[in-house]
Amino acid sequence: MSYPLGAYNVADPVHLRQALGRFATGVTVITTRSPGGKLEGLTANSFSSVSLDPPLVLWSLQRRAPSLESFKNSGAFAVNVLGAHQHHYCKHFATPAPDKFQSISYGIGFGGCPILDDCIARFECSMHSVVEGGDHLIFIGRVENVVYGDGEPLIFSAGSFCVPTRFQKPDSANDTQTTGQKAATHRERCS
Ligand SMILES: Cc1cc2nc3c(=O)[nH]c(=O)nc-3n(C[C@H](O)[C@H](O)[C@H](O)COP(=O)(O)O)c2cc1C
Repeated sequence: MSYPLGAYNVADPVHLRQALGRFATGVTVITTRSPGGKLEGLTANSFSSVSLDPPLVLWSLQRRAPSLESFKNSGAFAVNVLGAHQHHYCKHFATPAPDKFQSISYGIGFGGCPILDDCIARFECSMHSVVEGGDHLIFIGRVENVVYGDGEPLIFSAGSFCVPTRFQKPDSANDTQTTGQKAATHRERCS
């Protein structure tokens, strides 16, 4: 199956955003503790791996985010990778609030950063460097602690949250639909 492509002016942020949304990502909640002790956390899909040796990861934060100063002045952050069962966290952590942790179950990890219960993976990082990235700042962290489990990841694609549909091996082609496949038909728009 092929799909015709439309060409658009790169200066049009609507189409640039639409095109970027074709690149499906996982979803994370990135947290920190400001020098004054304020706990911060935001939904972010800009997370990416950088290097295995040394172990580095990155993510980017819009300059106008209320949490910017806290992240800039903190020496650490934690990347909580959300499982499909945690999609309710996305809206919560994407909505500005004085204390996003008031009604959330969390622990405290490396550098005093809040860590969310029940994630499918977590990277606790010391701040390696901060790089200018246009209207965003790029935070590069050195991974100090890593944990992971087996849960299904939450996926963000073209403005919707999804769960993965696994390609079936040929010998299981006649098997009944898996729970994941049934759930994949459900896409929830991000408001
Ligand atoms: C799926 C999704 C992904 C997002 N990814 C990012 C991101 O990578 N960087 C960013 O700055 N904002 C991102 N946002 C928006 C922030 O979560 C939102 O602006 C949040 O309110 C910022 O936190 P703050 O208000 O505590 O500073 C994303 C939102 C959603 C729903």
